Amino acid sequence: MANKTFAVLTSGGDAPGMNACIRAIYLTAASLNIHLIGFLHGYNGLLKSDYIRLNNHNTKGIIAIGGTLLKSARCVEFNQPENLLKAANNLQALNIDCLIVIGGNGSLSGLYELKKIWFGQVIGIPGTIDNDLFGSDYTIGYQTAIDTAVDAIDKLRDTAEAFERIFLVEVMGRNAGFIALSCALASASEQALTPELVTDPHAELESIIAHVETVRQIEGQCSMIIVIAENLWPGGVTDLATTLTEQIGLECRPCTLGHIQRGGRPVAFDRILASKLGCFAVQQAAAGEDNLMVGEINQIMVTTDLATAVSHQKPLDTFMINMQQNIFEVYHG
Ligand code: F6P
Repeated sequence: MANKTFAVLTSGGDAPGMNACIRAIYLTAASLNIHLIGFLHGYNGLLKSDYIRLNNHNTKGIIAIGGTLLKSARCVEFNQPENLLKAANNLQALNIDCLIVIGGNGSLSGLYELKKIWFGQVIGIPGTIDNDLFGSDYTIGYQTAIDTAVDAIDKLRDTAEAFERIFLVEVMGRNAGFIALSCALASASEQALTPELVTDPHAELESIIAHVETVRQIEGQCSMIIVIAENLWPGGVTDLATTLTEQIGLECRPCTLGHIQRGGRPVAFDRILASKLGCFAVQQAAAGEDNLMVGEINQIMVTTDLATAVSHQKPLDTFMINMQQNIFEVYHG
């Protein structure tokens, strides 16, 4: 019987640890005598049949490197029927048995759409700094992104302290507040604003002002850091800083951490998680499993069908919310 061939691609926002995952997929596939190709530039490579063969040489040493060897891209037009068909034809022409996609919600939704018209197997791996995929406690890249953000906020604190200023720090997360909540907690920020907890930003303004005033009443002139998830405040942190400065008469400075959060050497946690997910994905595919996303929940490797993974919302950790909002923030004001 001919050896099987699997394909992998990385799609959407790159995340530190994607390379570790590609390496694990290659090593596991090789151990099972499965050939592996990697499409370049996300789904664009699949549409153009632009790929490389993965081997010992090009996967060596990549575990410690951020970004993705296979490059990434967003391909919004992938879900159009003619493109899905093209992708299916290209996979068939290359005799691909299974397509593995490492990416976030949008990328795995694309994979789910492809499965509707392609007879081959599809497996998704949660890879995004946003941590917003249902079916895995953590996604590849999230822990590194938090570390990067916390390191940056620690540095901001030094200058905030020196000037006794208020800083508004915008972190990534797409429409989820995992990064915001975690790095606010880890950096002892005075407030965290996340989309899950702030439904009406303008109504929130009063509470932000009240919070700042109370902190100042208790601690006097002092530094304050408020972490805000991106896409939460209309106009972003720059607008919010201007509004707050006008309303409370105190200098507020905005800082957007931006794409810095996506880069850097993956922390060991992400390398290990990515390796486990990559290995497990190949094992599942080799066993004939299909149309699912692999994940890890409570230290157990699990699978979730793709439809569920992309349509369910993963909730924030309620223990952390309570700590940050009802205990720590209350104590500070
Ligand atoms: O999904 C990862 C992410 O970094 C989000 O946090 C952010 O909203 C988005 O990608 C930014 O995308 P782009 O790099 O296309 O600007």
